Amino acid sequence: MIVDRINRATRRVPAWPIYIVAVAIAGFQFYQGLTGALGPEPINALEREYGELALKLLIAGLVITPLRTFTGVNLIKYRRAIGLSAFFFATAHLAVWAFLDVRAWSRVIEEIIKRPYVTIGMAAFVLLIPLAVTSNKASIRAMGANWRKLHKLTYPAVLLGGIHYVWLVKGWPAEPFIYLAVIIALLAVRFKPFRFQRARA
Ligand code: HEM
Repeated sequence: MIVDRINRATRRVPAWPIYIVAVAIAGFQFYQGLTGALGPEPINALEREYGELALKLLIAGLVITPLRTFTGVNLIKYRRAIGLSAFFFATAHLAVWAFLDVRAWSRVIEEIIKRPYVTIGMAAFVLLIPLAVTSNKASIRAMGANWRKLHKLTYPAVLLGGIHYVWLVKGWPAEPFIYLAVIIALLAVRFKPFRFQRARA
């Protein structure tokens, strides 16, 4: 069966190349910004590229559990690398915004307080910090059951990331709403009544 084949293949394919690909993509996009390949506003374009990749990877991390529940495809071993890569892009997104776009600490603080979409982005980022810091074997061992509880912070973090995107766009472009709908659907399938119905089916 195709599911068994995929699961057998994942046993052979390690997770570490995900980190290399993430750093390579970020570096390549930075280079594109330097060489003018990102258009007339490279800083803004880079900021957006990194933000979008952070959100995509956060969503990819959310897909893994329902994918196993509903199809049997087990990609759990890649979840940490995907999550840490999401954090890496969120950090790069924040760094480009703060150091290359805004470029003054007083204004960075002011923008975080004044603009609700920036406040929400910052809240999402802050929630990701303890997750990134404890994404290692020693923390998993030391924290026991609390580790699982703490890592449920992923859910509000991704939701805030989706709201941050919807809030910042002007007009009604479809893309941010599609992201938010996907996030809400992925969070909804984690609720108990839904899982119970599936188990009965
Ligand atoms: C988990 C954390 C975050 C995620 C997933 C995220 C995601 C995104 C996404 C998807 C966009 C829109 C990209 C596009 O238009 O294609 C964006 C834009 C933006 N984000 Fe974030 N973001 C996060 C954290 C932050 C933080 C911490 C800040 C600043 C404190 C921030 C500031 C901004 C700004 C200013 C823009 C608008 C850029 C522009 O078009 O001028 N974000 N973000």
